[in-house]
Order: sequence, then structure tokens, then C-alpha cells
Amino acid sequence: MKTLRELDLRGKKVFIRVDFNVPIEDGKITDDTRIVESLPTIDYAIKAGGKVILCSHLGRPKGKRVPELSLKPVYEYLKGVLKTEVKFLEDYLGEEADRALAELKEGEVLLLENVRFYEGETKNDPEFVKALARMADVYINDAFSVCHRAHASVVGVPSLVKEKGMGFQLEKELKYLSKVVGKPERPLYAVVGGSKVSTKIGVLKNLLPRIDKLLIGGAMANTFLSALGYSVGKSLVEEEYREIAKDILRSAKELEVKIYLPVDVVVERDGEIYEADLLSIEEGDVIYDIGEETVALFSAALEGAHTVIWNGPLGYFEKDEYAFGTIAIARKIASLQALTIAGGGDTIAALRKAGVITALSYVSTAGGAFLEYLEGKTLPGLKALEEV
Ligand code: 3PG
Repeated sequence: MKTLRELDLRGKKVFIRVDFNVPIEDGKITDDTRIVESLPTIDYAIKAGGKVILCSHLGRPKGKRVPELSLKPVYEYLKGVLKTEVKFLEDYLGEEADRALAELKEGEVLLLENVRFYEGETKNDPEFVKALARMADVYINDAFSVCHRAHASVVGVPSLVKEKGMGFQLEKELKYLSKVVGKPERPLYAVVGGSKVSTKIGVLKNLLPRIDKLLIGGAMANTFLSALGYSVGKSLVEEEYREIAKDILRSAKELEVKIYLPVDVVVERDGEIYEADLLSIEEGDVIYDIGEETVALFSAALEGAHTVIWNGPLGYFEKDEYAFGTIAIARKIASLQALTIAGGGDTIAALRKAGVITALSYVSTAGGAFLEYLEGKTLPGLKALEEV
């Protein structure tokens, strides 16, 4: 894959697929992280004399024009931060679009309205791909977080354009994530949480041969505890994944990966909060956090890591009374002298709550793409950049 620096942009229509899928409330962006991450690429393209065309989705409008999912708030934002003329194009199939393209000057920016307002985007429809590709002498992907989608702006356009490559955000993302699935600096420890084992099986199976320890928390730990014969009361358990949990434990043993599960938990019992060890969980209890002993156990287990990968909270951290375990482990990871990488929406929220989001080596803003990459899958958006 080529990098941005290897491409000649001057005077060319530079089509950049970004991910401006940011939270917007009452027309105001409430978290601009994803936009900020792509600014170096956009600035570079402007300075290099490209006619910069920015393309993104926002939400899932299913091929319809949904006013609340317009990228206009992002347009207002960009006008404030980019030191050049920024224009906005609502409809990019008709004559208005041809005019806007013809008028776009070197170093100027044209933001396209939400690409998912067109049905052809998610269907990777050939006619729609052609319409987008006419805006791309050069194609840049700076949106790792959509690389798992075989959509027109992610896969269709780069398959028609010869001059293509990665933006700085995508390059950085791959640099860090490949340190986990490529040749990691061992010992590599994985901390995996969240509510469901079912969504993490692929990740666990792919990571097991690469890691030295696996620390499991969150509601998904319940399924493992239940598979080991512990009663977890009324806590969430994926019954049909018990056998898979056992398989994972067996494989870990064969591969000499040490598994850590909670040894005590925080439960809700008749509307009150209690700490319980594994043998004192009552029938009506619901587990919402890991307990103090588990925090101590996990913290000690993380010592000596050279690389740590973290995905998924260890409890119901959104509620302050159940945030202790997740916050403690977030802070522990942040304090390590190791390459520390985390990703996923909930994990980012947890890192923010713990006040340590800037203390990790790398935090990925990708959700689905992050997991699929860790599963070892070939992401269509990356493959499309490789093909000549
Ligand atoms: C994300 O938020 O993970 C990306 O923007 C992808 O969005 P999607 O899941 O709607 O494709």
C-alpha cells in the first residue's frame, strides 16, 4: 500500500474517504476525535496542492436523506479549522456537482454530503461507484474504522482508481495494530471484556496463539464462570456459548496461555450492592463489576507486559457504583511501561472516565473494524488499496 507522501497530488482531484461518523446533538459535534485524527491528512493534501474532496458517512440512513444525519455540522466545523476555502456539496450526481468539481481550485476543500444518503453506497453499486470515481484522480483512505465495509466509497472507488494510498490516520492505525497481530513484543497480554462472548470469539481464537496471558472481565466472564460450574445467579450468561468457552479454556491450556477470570465480583442483590466471592453468589444476584481481589489479581498479572491490548469494559462502568474495576484496570494499563493499545467505543468511554485516555500508546477509534482486524480477517477496504 502506498502512503500519502508517495503520491503526487498537485492539481489533482484528491478524493479522501474519511470517517466523520461523529456524535452530533442539536446540530453540535459532541466529540470531534475522529475529525481531528484526519486533519493531518487533509492539511497535507491542501498544502500539496490537491483539489481536496472529502467523503464520509454519518450513521445509517439506509439510502434516504435524513436531515439529522446531514454532515452540515461537520462542514461548519471544518470551515472553522481549515485555513482554506471549504465548500459543501449536497447532491453529487447532477450538474451542480459537475460545476462544483470544475470550480474547485488547488488547495480548496469540498465536503460531500453523507454518502449513505445514496443507496448505491452500501450496495457498492457500479453506477454509483462510477459517479464517485469521477471525483477521484487520486484516492486516499483515511478511515480505518470503515475498512470492514465493502461499500462504494471504501472498495468500489479504489478498485477503479490507479493512484491510491493510505492517509496518515490509516497508516498510524495499521502501524500499531500490526504490532499485536504481526510480530508482537512478548510478553503480550490481552484484556478482554464487554457483555458477550459471542462477539469476541473470533478475536479470542486469533489472539490465543499470539499472547501470553488473557484477562477476562465484563459480563462475558459470566459465561466462562458458568462453564466452569460456578453459579452466577441471574447474571447475563450466553448458554449456547458455554461449550465454546470451554474450548477456549482448553486451547489456552494447550498453547500455555494463562487465563485470568474474576475471583470476586460486585453484585446487585435486592436493590443493594454487595461484594461476593465466587462461592457466595446468590440465586437472585446480578454481577455488574469485578471485585477488589480481582482488581489486585489482574493488576499483578499485568506487570511485566511488553505489549497490552485491551478491548471491552470489565463491568457496567457507565454506572458509577459499578465503575471501580474498569477504572482501576484502565489506570493500571495506562501506568505500564509497555506498548499499550486499546480500541472500541465503550473502551474509549471507559478510558475517558478513568482520565487516562492520553496515557496509552495508542487508542483506536474504530469499533467493528478494530475487532475484525484482531480476528485476522482481511478487511476489504485495505485489500482494495493493495490491488494495482
Ligand atoms: C464506526 O462507527 O464504527 C464506523 O463509522 C462504521 O460505522 P458502521 O458500523 O455504521 O459501518
